[in-house]
Order: sequence, then C-alpha cells, then structure tokens
Amino acid sequence: MKSQIESLRRKLEQHNFNYYVKSAPTISDFEFDAMMKELQILEEKFPEFADAHSPTQRVGSDIANGFEQVAHIYPMLSLGNTYSEGEVQDFYERVRRGLNEDFELVCELKYDGTSISLTYEHGLLVRAVTRGDGEKGDDVTANVKTIKSIPLRLQGDFPENFEIRGEILMPWAVFDELNNEREMQEEQLFANPRNAASGTLKLQNSAVVASRKLDAYFYYLLGDKLPADLHSDNLKTANSWGFKISEATKVCSSIDDVFEFIKYWDTERKNLPVATDGIVIKVNSLSQQKNLGYTAKSPRWAIAYKFQAEKAVTRLNSVSYQVGRTGAVTPVANLEPVQLSGTVVKRASLHNADIIEGLDLHIGDLVFVEKGGEIIPKITAVDVHALGDDKVIFIKKCPECDADLVRFDGEAAHYCPNENACPPQIKGKMEHFVSRKALNIDGLGSETINLLYQNNLLHNIADIYELKIPDLIRLERLGSKSAYNIKDGAEKSKEVPFERVIFGLGIRFVGETIAKKLAYAFKNIDALEKATYEQLIEVDEIGERIAQSVVAYFADLINKQTINRLKSFGLQMSLSEEKLQAHGSSLAGLSIVISGTFALHSRDEYKAMIEMNGGKNVGSVSAKTSYILAGENMGPEKLKKAESLGVKLIDEKAFLQLINAEMKEDSFSGLLF
Ligand code: IVH
Repeated sequence: MKSQIESLRRKLEQHNFNYYVKSAPTISDFEFDAMMKELQILEEKFPEFADAHSPTQRVGSDIANGFEQVAHIYPMLSLGNTYSEGEVQDFYERVRRGLNEDFELVCELKYDGTSISLTYEHGLLVRAVTRGDGEKGDDVTANVKTIKSIPLRLQGDFPENFEIRGEILMPWAVFDELNNEREMQEEQLFANPRNAASGTLKLQNSAVVASRKLDAYFYYLLGDKLPADLHSDNLKTANSWGFKISEATKVCSSIDDVFEFIKYWDTERKNLPVATDGIVIKVNSLSQQKNLGYTAKSPRWAIAYKFQAEKAVTRLNSVSYQVGRTGAVTPVANLEPVQLSGTVVKRASLHNADIIEGLDLHIGDLVFVEKGGEIIPKITAVDVHALGDDKVIFIKKCPECDADLVRFDGEAAHYCPNENACPPQIKGKMEHFVSRKALNIDGLGSETINLLYQNNLLHNIADIYELKIPDLIRLERLGSKSAYNIKDGAEKSKEVPFERVIFGLGIRFVGETIAKKLAYAFKNIDALEKATYEQLIEVDEIGERIAQSVVAYFADLINKQTINRLKSFGLQMSLSEEKLQAHGSSLAGLSIVISGTFALHSRDEYKAMIEMNGGKNVGSVSAKTSYILAGENMGPEKLKKAESLGVKLIDEKAFLQLINAEMKEDSFSGLLF
C-alpha cells in the first residue's frame, strides 16, 4: 500500500509541476482531481503513511498559525534603485571598474509581490520565511505550502541543503476577483496585488490562503554547493528541480542588450498575468558577484531599474460620497475623463477625509492621477490649484438620509449611524445577508432586493422569511418562477450553519473568520447576545474594536427584535451538535507556546489540538504563557525566558494526556487536515 500511495504522490507532483510551473498540463483537471481524491482516501485509510509533504497537504487548514520569528542564515538585502538609463549606465561602469575583466549581466523582471526565502533539505521544503527586517522574518511555511507552483518535494539532482529566494505574487485576475468579492462584502479593498499577496501570506488561516491562488517566481539560489558558477545556469537548473523561473530572463553581454530588454518589457509587461515594477540587472558569475561584494544595504553586483508609474493630469470636477452597507462613507473624485494606461479614467478613490485634507483639494484643481500597481487610480498630488476658494470639505451629513455623520476614535472613515433607516445601509445589509458566504439565498440579487424594498416588502433581513408568494407575483418585474425561487432559497437557508448566520447579520468588523471564532466561543446566540466586552476580548483574535462593535450590535433594540424573529423562523442559532462535540474545552483560557520538534505529531497538528480544545497558541513566551509544549531542540532563548518567568514546560505525552481527559480520540483525529 505504501508504494501505491508514494506512486500516486509522485504522479501528482509531476502533474502539479506541469500545470503550475510549466503551464503545460498533460491530463485533464477531472483526471487530476480524481487522482487527488484517490490519494486522499488512501491517506485517510492508512494514516501510518502520512507525509507532511504530500500533495494533499496543500489545502491548508483553518488553524491559527501564530508566526514564529526565524533568523535568516543569509540576510535578505534590498536592491539599489535607479530610475533612468543614465543611472543604469553608471552601474555598468562601476561594475566594469570593479571587476576589470569581461563580465555578463542577467536581466530579469522585477516582480512586484512579497519576497520569500525557502529552505530545502534533502529535497523537501522545510521552511518558508518572509523578508521581515532582512535579518529575521516570519515563518510562514504552512501558508506557503498551499501555493501550488512551489514544489514541496524536488525532482532531479539537487544539493542537500540550499535556500532559494523569490517573489510571491497574486495574479491580476485573482486580485480583481478578490477585490470584487470584498467590495460586495464591504470589506476594505486591497490597493494593489502586492499588498494583497503580503496580506494573504500573513493570514492566520492557511485554508483561506489556499483559496487565494497565489503564485511564485524564483530568482536567486544560495548555498554552499550550488550547481554552477553562472546565476543563469543555476536558475535553469532550479527550474528542472521544480521551481517556476521567469521566461523573461536574458543573459546580456553589452549595455545595449540591457537597454533593449528594458525597452521591450516596459510595454510588454502589461500583458503579463502578474505585476512587475521594474527590471533587475545582475552580474551573472557568482565568483564575480563575490568579488564585487556588498555595501551595508545592498549588493554591488545588482541593481533595480524601476519603471515609471503612469501618470496623467486632469481636472477635479466634483467629489461625491457613497454610503455602504456598514454606513462607511467613501469619497470619490469625479474627474474630467483622461486616458491612462489604455483606459479612460473618470473617477478616482479618495479613501477618506484625511487624504482630501492632505492633498488640500479644491474643486477645479488640476490633479495628477496615477495607476502604478493600483487597479483603482488615485490622485497623488495637485499640479495646479484652481482659482477661487472651492475647498473640498468632507460632508457632515449623510447624503442618503441626512443623519449627522460620526467618526470613531482612531478611525479614518466617517460613518452614517442611522443604520436601520438609511436606504443603502438597509439594502446593503440584505445583500450581505443573502450572499453566498452568508445565508446563500438564491433568487435575491441586488436588483430584486431593490425592487422589494421600493415596494415596501423588505425593510429588514427578517422580512425575507415573511415574503408571500402572491405579493411577489403581483410585482411587475418578478415572475412566479422567481417568486418560488426566493421562497425556496429562504427555506433552504434555515439549514445554514450558525457561524454563517452570525456572519450574515452584518455586524461591523465581523467577517467570516471572526464569525466562526464567535460561534465556537459562545456556541449559541443567547450566549453571544449576553457576552460582555470583557468576555469577548478574551476570545482569540477579537480585539477592542470588534468587541465594542458586537456589544453595540446586541444592545440595539431593533437588532434584538430581528434576532428574535430569525429565531422564530427556525434559522440555526447554535453550533451544531457535531461541532460542539469536536470542540473540547480542556485548555480553555490557556496560552500555549509550541517550541522545538516533535515525534508524535507535527507542529501544525499540535496547533490544531490547542485550538480545538479551547486554548490559544501564541508565538512568544511571556508572563502570561500558561505552558510551553516543548519538543526536541527547543530554542535556547525560549528556554531561558521560560526559566526566568517560571513558565512550565510540558512534553508531547503530557500534553496529549492533558487534552485526552476531555477529548474523544476519533472525533478529533477525523478533524485534522
Ligand atoms: S534579487 C540581494 N531579483 O526586489 C538581492 N529581487 O529590492 C536579491 N525582486 O527584496 C534580490 N524581482 O523582493 C531580485 N528578479 C528579481 C526580483 C527581485 C523582484 C524584489 C525582491 C527584493 C526586492 C529588491
């Protein structure tokens, strides 16, 4: 059986490589999925052959990661930037003088994502660390393992130990989709794919990371026994091991070749699926790189040439204000239409009152708009102020319902507080409630909601369950099929689990993950309704802002009525029996640090166990730490700190005993990965 499992793993690894690295799949998605399913079933049946590097381990898990800081063996430096051909020429001359012999340069694209350093031992990915401050970064291995174009196990003839550096990226298409979704959920949009990629990589929930479809390109190898002296050869070899290396990599023997590369990619890059912000030029020979060495901050053997962000100047005609589901008011600049990177720009986001104030905007100003890496153009500066004194002053009253706007301490956004009487908020709340990740009510799109709202049939999310077929059919634009669809969708939504009902309520700052945390922590709506601020902030990942918002939500009379009505209609208002059972509470209130390596379970599994039993897994030792789950080779600093603070160390066995007291072995193991 072991060999059958291994053979399936090897096949899936090859297909992964063909699909994600070479972009040349040899089997259909269907065949791939079937093979993966087969492996999953076998691995479940034969847990003794489990392998943390199996292709099935890329799906992530929703266990908090609590990143550990890891020191880089080789510091992660940045590159010197240049913005003109003249400066590139200066770099070339410096290298020529420094080496005093023939040399080649390699031109590569400068990928605009977030940098990562991967360590491989015996062909297995053992660690993935972010750049951090260059000296030490966050261990994001669990998240990186979900990226399909990163090999978990290498092919061919690779050195025993090495590091490879590259860039993790969110492709434009994924970024657009993510932002569309966030817009619908009224979550803050990511400004550009770089922020989206680094934000995703730092998520606590690797299952969400897996769903974000990140990609990665690699551009530098480090280690004692690299295959060749030429950087370009090493990249080619790394590609054969399984890494994605950009095809836009060119060996240049003259500065003119470099300029040609820059010129070509300055326009051609716009057709790439991922963001780039320049070119990196490197000396090809590693021994020559060594001779040139480093300054305090960056290598002397490489430089970045940054592309100019595309800019246009246009007139600010007016500022309008949009009110969203949560009442947040977003200012939008209406511009004289202008061409920018192939599209006509008419509007630009102004984000909030501080940005407007900082720009000292006046209606009629000539402003610079830039697209850069951003999808939504932004105003970066005023070119010429308008004559006259029409300064843009952020509105004081809601443009939709005339309520006085409020601004909470420490927040940039203004809000309309009139949540139960302000039309876009009422409609937005309903759109959110019926959306796919919440109650998923088919047949109720934003247009239908608007129609029902206009016709006085919907004012509140609970009204959805009291809609009557004859009333619906009577509406001109709604056929009987749609009417039955809506009723049917509402009926089905009564089975949607409690955590999604909490999410659907649209409590400010309570996204999907927080809704889940609340559901598991309080288990039913009555307990959640009664939860105090102090109890709420005890819950992992729930800070002051969220706690305040939850308390305020349940203090509101209309919200209380809504909840009572939803209850009476039969929605799921408590955690399912199955989930309740799986969740022990033997570690409730305990903060546990995991350190070292373990024989019986992986670190991720221990993290899962802590969470599943109501404990909190934290990254560093402090006076508040209850225990350290200590394995082999525990970090000496942690040990010292634990001793000085008197924090108790427990080993694997003691830990397992601790949770076994309240845990059903089989319900637990079924839940792991
Ligand atoms: S080489 C010692 N090559 O740009 C320098 N970097 O400021 C090693 N980047 O942190 C970096 N594409 O995140 C290199 N082809 C490329 C790159 C690249 C993007 C990023 C990387 C680095 C930053 C340099």
